[in-house]
Amino acid sequence: MSVDRSSTVGTASLEETALALVRGKGILAADESMGTIKKRFDPIGVESTEENRRSYRGMLFEAEGAEEFVSGVILFDETIRQKDSEGTPFPELLAGKGIIPGIKVDKGTKPLAGGEAGEKITEGLDGLRPRLAEYRSLGARFAKLRTVYSIGDDLPSDYCVEANSHVQAYYAALCVEQGIVPIVEPEVLMDGDHSIDGCYDTTLRVLTSVFSRLALYRVPLPQILLKTNMILSGADASERAEVEEVAKRTLECFHEVLPPELPGVVFLSGGQSEEEATAHLNAINRQAGGEAPWHLSFSYGRALQASALEAWRGSAANLSAGQEAYLHRAKLNAAAVHGSYSPEMEG
Ligand code: 13P
Repeated sequence: MSVDRSSTVGTASLEETALALVRGKGILAADESMGTIKKRFDPIGVESTEENRRSYRGMLFEAEGAEEFVSGVILFDETIRQKDSEGTPFPELLAGKGIIPGIKVDKGTKPLAGGEAGEKITEGLDGLRPRLAEYRSLGARFAKLRTVYSIGDDLPSDYCVEANSHVQAYYAALCVEQGIVPIVEPEVLMDGDHSIDGCYDTTLRVLTSVFSRLALYRVPLPQILLKTNMILSGADASERAEVEEVAKRTLECFHEVLPPELPGVVFLSGGQSEEEATAHLNAINRQAGGEAPWHLSFSYGRALQASALEAWRGSAANLSAGQEAYLHRAKLNAAAVHGSYSPEMEG
C-alpha cells in the first residue's frame, strides 16, 4: 500500500489509514524522546548522539520484510527529519515499503498544577496546529499523544483524569482537522503493587472520561485509534494475574466502555517483557475469536526493541543481528494479532 501524498484530506482516507494500521499487523513505536532513548542506550553502553540515534533507527527501518508484520512506525521530531545512509528521508524510506509514517506530538508529561503529588499533565497542545501541518508535509499520516495515570490510594484524582481527557480530545480534534489519524494514548501505569482489579477500575474510569470528551469535542471515532494498556496486575503485586485472566479482564473492560465505531486498539507494552507482551496479545485475540468490534493489535516500543538493542550494542558489525532480533519480535506479534502465536515459536 502506498501512502497518499496528495494534499486532498478526505474523510475516507483517515478511516482507511486507521484501518490499515490495525488490520492484521501492528505499529513499531520508535518515538522515544531524548531522555527515554538515553535510558535505552545507557545499559548497552551507547552514547546518545544524533548519529547513534540515526544508525539505530535506520537499522530498524531498513529491516527487510518488516512490512509483512509492521503497518506503521511512530517517529520522533528529530527522526522524521533524518535520512538513511543513502540520503533517503526516513518517512520516504518507510512509505516506499508500504509502512505508514507517524509522529509523536506530545511534549512530555509535567507536574499537574494543583494536582495530587506525582500527578502529571501532558503538554503539547500549544502551537500544535502548525506543527501537525508541517509533520503532514514531511510525510506523517498519523500521530500519537500519551497521557499517564498512576494508581495509588487517592490516585488518579478526577482532576487529573479530566484534565488529561481534555488534552487527548482537543489533540484528536486538531489531528482530524489537519488530515492526520490521531492515536489517543491514555496509559495507566503498571508501577505499584495494585491488584488487577485496581488496574481494571482505573482504566475503566480513564477510558470512560476520554471517550466522553471525544464525543463532546465531535471527534469522529472511525478516524482515530486508541492506544492503551492491557488490564494487568501491578508490577510489584504479590500475586500477578495469569495470561488468560489478563486477556479476559482486558476484553471485559473494553466491552464495557469502547464504542463499536472505534476501528481498533493498539496496545503499548508498558514494561512487560517481550514474551509477556506477545503472549498477552495472543490470548486477547484468541479469546475475542474475531468477534470483537475492534481490531486488537500492538504499538510496542520496548517489547519490539529490547532484544534488537541488545543484539546491536552500537556496533555497525551487529546491524543484521539487530534487524533479525527486531524481525523476530515483529513476526511473533503479528502472529499474536491473528491469535496464532505459541511459545514454541520463540525459538
Ligand atoms: P512501550 O511499548 O515501551 O510501553 O512504548 C510504547 C509507547 O509508545 C509509549 O508511549
